[in-house]
Amino acid sequence: MPISEASRPQLDTFADHVTALLADPSTPHGLARTLRATAKEINLARHHHASQRASPNGRIDDTPTHVQIGGGAHRIDGFFNIDAVPPADLLWDVREGIPLQDATAQVLFSEHFLEHIDYPRSAKHFAREAHRVLAPGGQVITGVPDAAHVLTPYPAPLAEAVEMIDRWYASRTCRADITTYLDLINYVFRDQDDDPTYNPHYWAYDAEKLTQLFTEAGFTHIEPWPFDATIANPKREWASVYMTAFK
Ligand SMILES: C[S@@+](CC[C@H](N)C(=O)[O-])C[C@H]1O[C@@H](n2cnc3c(N)ncnc32)[C@H](O)[C@@H]1O
Repeated sequence: MPISEASRPQLDTFADHVTALLADPSTPHGLARTLRATAKEINLARHHHASQRASPNGRIDDTPTHVQIGGGAHRIDGFFNIDAVPPADLLWDVREGIPLQDATAQVLFSEHFLEHIDYPRSAKHFAREAHRVLAPGGQVITGVPDAAHVLTPYPAPLAEAVEMIDRWYASRTCRADITTYLDLINYVFRDQDDDPTYNPHYWAYDAEKLTQLFTEAGFTHIEPWPFDATIANPKREWASVYMTAFK
């Protein structure tokens, strides 16, 4: 559900209070963490509210057949891009549903998006919504960081994870805090915790978990997706798992 017009002024007032508290250096660390997460959600709610005004029933009038969800800066030729924040063709919080008409899409594509929405409520809702909006024979392609990749070597010396650290964390401030293999697992599973822009990783997935999620949503044929760099972000190929579910 979108924020009602009646609640919108309260949201704006609340946002002002959050901003003021975050600017106050005496705000305690724990409260500030929560407020940063709240500020992110307020930002998403405002974007979503603006789009929902144009599509009050939660469905856009257009019927794009190829749709990318949570693509961020990665755009795909021929795909309509839906994301919670700019840049996107439509700003929409997909936890509120996929804003497409029933049985109209041929391909839904997302990568490194699903782990950023909460499980079970939002992830299961997303899978059910994918089933609703796909035409018969359509497919939803989902790529996520493969939990098996980081878990399988454990317990292990950190030296075994040199490639993952180089690829994912070498240029990030958290690199200095990854000093054991378990630190690495924690960062993979909680990535972008307390980040001012992105929601963190809420849930970890592997091929089995993706298959179960889409099976529960009504998909009958699910298989690994052969990575295609004309669609997917090339930097996501390593240590990710992609599955495609057909309606
Ligand atoms: C880690 S980025 C991945 C971007 C791109 N898919 C890639 O692989 O480079 C996660 C993306 O999911 C989007 N996202 C997160 N939660 C969302 C939501 N509730 N609704 C729509 N998009 C969301 C974020 O805004 C962000 O663009």
